[in-house]
Amino acid sequence: NPAAPVLFVLFGAAGDLSRRLIVPALFNLHLDGRLPAGFRLLGIDRRELGDGALAEDYRDAVTRHSRRGAPEPGAWEAFAAGISYRRADVNSGETYANLAAMVRARPPGGGPEPVVVFYLAVPPTLIEPIVNGLGEAGLTRDADHARVVAEKPLGRDLDSFRAINSALGRHFIEQQTYRIDHFLGKETVQNILALRFANPIFEPIWDRRYVDHVAITVAESLGVEHRGAYYERAGALRDMVQNHLLQLLCLVAMEPPVAYDAEDIRNKKMDVLRALRPITRAGVHEVAARGQYGPGWLRGVRLPGYRGEPAVDLRSNTETFAALKLQVDNWRWQEVPFYLRTGKRLMDQVSEISIRFRDVPHRAFPDAVGLNAQPARLVIRIQPDEGIDLKFMAKEPGSPLRLRPVDMRFSYREAFAQASPNAYETLLRDVLLGDATLFMRADQVEAAWRLLMPVLEVWEETPAADFPNYAAGSWGPESAQVLMARDGRSWLSPT
Ligand code: BG6
Repeated sequence: NPAAPVLFVLFGAAGDLSRRLIVPALFNLHLDGRLPAGFRLLGIDRRELGDGALAEDYRDAVTRHSRRGAPEPGAWEAFAAGISYRRADVNSGETYANLAAMVRARPPGGGPEPVVVFYLAVPPTLIEPIVNGLGEAGLTRDADHARVVAEKPLGRDLDSFRAINSALGRHFIEQQTYRIDHFLGKETVQNILALRFANPIFEPIWDRRYVDHVAITVAESLGVEHRGAYYERAGALRDMVQNHLLQLLCLVAMEPPVAYDAEDIRNKKMDVLRALRPITRAGVHEVAARGQYGPGWLRGVRLPGYRGEPAVDLRSNTETFAALKLQVDNWRWQEVPFYLRTGKRLMDQVSEISIRFRDVPHRAFPDAVGLNAQPARLVIRIQPDEGIDLKFMAKEPGSPLRLRPVDMRFSYREAFAQASPNAYETLLRDVLLGDATLFMRADQVEAAWRLLMPVLEVWEETPAADFPNYAAGSWGPESAQVLMARDGRSWLSPT
């Protein structure tokens, strides 16, 4: 019920995620008039803080991290009036009894029953005690009025995911459960479905007859910053591939949905995950490449290697770069490889999906003319400089006849006057509306873990002898180039 007031219970209220992403997004929704009337935020954390201190801290966080900068005082005061804080130990039953009393309390004069959103911005080890506590206090039973939002990482392997998920499943039904993959909230990611299914011109060539391969790059120029302790136990495969990159692959590869609704979209994505050819332990070295950055230079600045970052082991075996070659074994994509790569401290901050079409069946131009000829490709630029490019060959003006690759570009910034909401604004709005289309269903997360387990195991059991194997500020390790070169293909520099 979109009109119902909302009590937003934020576990991990004093943490980084709440301050950097969740609260700035909620405040932007407030500015856009998109929070329901009677929205209240109850922060829960173990720090000693007053209601006012939390609100002050959030004002500072919004100033720093919101796309709109410092809040206007009037607007901030109205939002802050709904913020309260409870110091609590999430392992104590008393916490949940108190919470239940607060949830059940009605303002004088009654008023409609609020929807309660339990947002778990906490490490994965706390998810189980929290949902058990909520369940035992009877706070989860009413599926129309209680929702839970869980953040990745949902476990660090298949077994730990299953444990977390069954704890969630004991107390919440799937329709109450919102598993965030924030890439799905990005405008450009949602637009993949619009591009494919709101236009008749792409889908006829979107298959093995015309597509040679798909290359997905999510490159970051940042290092691990202050997240060394988390990242040491994660690595690029768990941090990015298990969720964000596989979701991008699903959107590119899925069949057309019958309707844009949560179950249909997620079923079609699940079909892709089910069709991914399993990776065998023996095959890991052929389909996967890993890297770790060493010291290097980026835009004139000398940067330390990963092993020199705070909270990182001097002999760390954690990968900061991962590349994979995947095959989707179904009718549409038979023998069309999907190459995925992601890494930290790469030369540029750029995420894009490149659909490379097959070569022409016959080259009519003399060899010298066609020397630069490249098969056409469609590039979906996820970020930054969001947009879509179609690259194809054209004849250079004048004679002699020469061909050159050219570009047709669509840019969000030029086409649309309004700024895009950020991913958390979109996703939080959907949680408040009760729309789970852009969230991960349990079976998807499980299938993604199952696919990657052989790679995770082999990489853990056999420490990489060559780490660090790429310089900060480069495009990653040689082995990622080899992965494609073996098939006679190459990564192209991002556009
Ligand atoms: C997060 C990862 O999920 O995504 C981070 O944990 C990564 O390591 C981030 O930096 C990238 O997201 P975005 O939206 O900044 O591209």
